[in-house]
Amino acid sequence: MEGKFNAVLEFVLMELIFIKFGSSIGSRNRTSAYLKDWCNNQRLERNNNPFSQVISCNQITNTVEQRHLTQSIDPPVGLPGVFYHTNLPVPVNEQKDHPTYLRQLALEIINDIPVDALKVYTDGSRNDSDCTGSGIYITKHNQELKIQRRNPDFCSVFRSELIAVNEGLDSLSSFSCSNEIWMLTDSRSSIQHLANWHRVRDNTGMNILNKLKSLSVSYRIHLQWIASHVDIQGNEIADELAKAGADDASVPSAPLTYLELFSRAKSGNKTIWLIPPEHHWYHCSRPGGCLSIDCSRCDQTTLTRFLSGHIRSLIFSDNSKCFEIFPKCASEQATPDHILACLGISKQDLVSNPLLTLDFFRVHRLVDPT
Ligand SMILES: *[C@@H]1O[C@H](CO)[C@@H](O)[C@H](O)[C@H]1NC(C)=O
Ligand SMILES: *[C@@H]1O[C@H](CO)[C@@H](O)[C@H](O)[C@H]1NC(C)=O
Ligand SMILES: *[C@@H]1O[C@H](CO)[C@@H](O)[C@H](O)[C@H]1NC(C)=O
Repeated sequence: MEGKFNAVLEFVLMELIFIKFGSSIGSRNRTSAYLKDWCNNQRLERNNNPFSQVISCNQITNTVEQRHLTQSIDPPVGLPGVFYHTNLPVPVNEQKDHPTYLRQLALEIINDIPVDALKVYTDGSRNDSDCTGSGIYITKHNQELKIQRRNPDFCSVFRSELIAVNEGLDSLSSFSCSNEIWMLTDSRSSIQHLANWHRVRDNTGMNILNKLKSLSVSYRIHLQWIASHVDIQGNEIADELAKAGADDASVPSAPLTYLELFSRAKSGNKTIWLIPPEHHWYHCSRPGGCLSIDCSRCDQTTLTRFLSGHIRSLIFSDNSKCFEIFPKCASEQATPDHILACLGISKQDLVSNPLLTLDFFRVHRLVDPT
């Protein structure tokens, strides 16, 4: 929960930084100068950058989850038989809308699924000791299949969600199926990730895409988001299976991604990573308190809308913001927190040198060129 709050806070923080400094960037030369200086750049060399930390803590043992350099889907062909639904028939806000309403809308979709279609509910789980699992519940008429599996410790929830989708697609063979498959997940970001198939390079994502490619020759496949914890039976079952999976006795020794290795290193040594924020405008007097900034409310709103629409890592999907997978590491969602961690930039850098940081983001193509 706290993590979620922090992510939101970071996001707000990021928007404020863009509001504060966004309008004053202009010079392209700053970026090229920065690039020229790249090889002796202190910021990247100093050893609290996550990647050098992971290496210096000896976290990279023998295996790291494979990444691909090229996409497996032919862009002109695409995946014409696959449909991505990151919202319900009426756009909803999972945080604000009433659970009964979310449930009702989800049930409208589920009830419209043809009776002879396969319904595959998937979920991922991670407990407070970083044990992770995936759950899959496949159902058609009165036939059903439940699968739980444990994932390697420190596997991200996002990847556990994708593993569940992958495993679900693998397990359809015992069902006869007419021509529709519905994958139902409460992970919007997984659907968003797969919808951006041309940018997928992570191993799990690639495996899913390859399966979608061959299945979509014979089936229409729908990837549908549904709200979590609103008492949708299939989703509750998948959730329980994922939790049970995380509790399974034997831990697989599957490889982790760099970011997961980083997360493992971080959890082993919390002190060096938790740098408290120092800036007055960052401070909240109480949890959930507001940030304030010297800027009229109207300007704030205009700029927030304008600027956030130009942050590449944010995708607008039916009026809700989703974070895309961060292209630099391609294994985690590009939350502002994650972007900073992944680039080895601290909040101090953002404040002491916002223009350079913004250029840095541009170099990494995290914001569109203005
Ligand atoms: C960038 O710098 C070059 C010389 O290094 C100069 O000729 C050019 O006008 C500059 N461009 C901008 C946009 O300032
Ligand atoms: C997480 O799951 C593992 C495996 O079952 C268990 O040993 C551990 O106590 C759990 N941690 C928490 C905080 O529930
Ligand atoms: C934790 O960080 C401290 C300070 O950087 C370091 O001395 C120590 O070796 C680290 N411990 C582990 C387990 O990495």
